[in-house]
Amino acid sequence: MILTVTSWKGGTGKTTLAVLAAIILAARGKRSLIVDLDSNCAISQVFGQVLKDFTSMEFLSGNGENFKGVYSARQNIDIIPGSLNNMLLNNIMDRQLKINLKRAGYTEAYDYIIIDPPGYWGAHTRNAVFSADTIVIPGACSRIDYEATRLYFRTLRECYIEANTLVCVNAFNAESNLPGIHDEYKSEFGEFLLAEPVPYIKSLKKLTSDPDYTLQAGIRKRLERTVDAITGTKGGENA
Ligand SMILES: Nc1ncnc2c1ncn2[C@@H]1O[C@H](COP(=O)(O)OP(=O)(O)OP(=O)(O)O)[C@@H](O)[C@H]1O
Ligand SMILES: [Mg+2]
Repeated sequence: MILTVTSWKGGTGKTTLAVLAAIILAARGKRSLIVDLDSNCAISQVFGQVLKDFTSMEFLSGNGENFKGVYSARQNIDIIPGSLNNMLLNNIMDRQLKINLKRAGYTEAYDYIIIDPPGYWGAHTRNAVFSADTIVIPGACSRIDYEATRLYFRTLRECYIEANTLVCVNAFNAESNLPGIHDEYKSEFGEFLLAEPVPYIKSLKKLTSDPDYTLQAGIRKRLERTVDAITGTKGGENA
């Protein structure tokens, strides 16, 4: 399954959700390939894979064959790192990533391909969207995140994107959410909204600096259910 976590606004929790999904799937014995398409290389940094010789830029520039830039990050987690030069690559086909993932054999070799694009619409995000089987748009409980999510979701629907497109409320905190905004998410997105929001996680900084950090059990359980909802599987079952 190719999973793209994307939004039209920065800082909504794309990278966080991609990291959490990869960690939870890895613990279930599922193999993931993370593709970092963002020039800030945030997810590559989480897994200690920055400034590598081969990056997603070389992968997108080539035809997918004999690519040398898949690095092992953890057990069951490989990564094609991001490139600081990514913005130089604008004249590529919107389906190049999908074509190359297939040609390279990665869609067969991995249980999940998890794509982390930048937080704006451009060649990289289009490639991420047009590769996906499932798209998840995260948004926090603020007016600006809600409006950005609404605009993006509607636009993707109008473009007839074939992927299963879901919305996920992120960093939910009953004490600091904009009052009523979660209900607005529910009525706008209905069945396309993940039933359970991802909570505000105080210890997230520890996790992103050390992906082996053990999440608090209650939070982990909620995240397991989020991953189940996104991947359509129950914990531990085969995809
Ligand atoms: N559930 C959460 N609980 C607490 N903090 C969170 C949560 N999700 C994200 N954050 C924090 O919000 C900030 C932005 O998160 P993240 O980098 O995942 O967003 P992004 O959408 O990938 O951003 P960008 O558009 O820059 O790529 C980070 O500091 C992250 O630690
Ligand atoms: Mg990010």
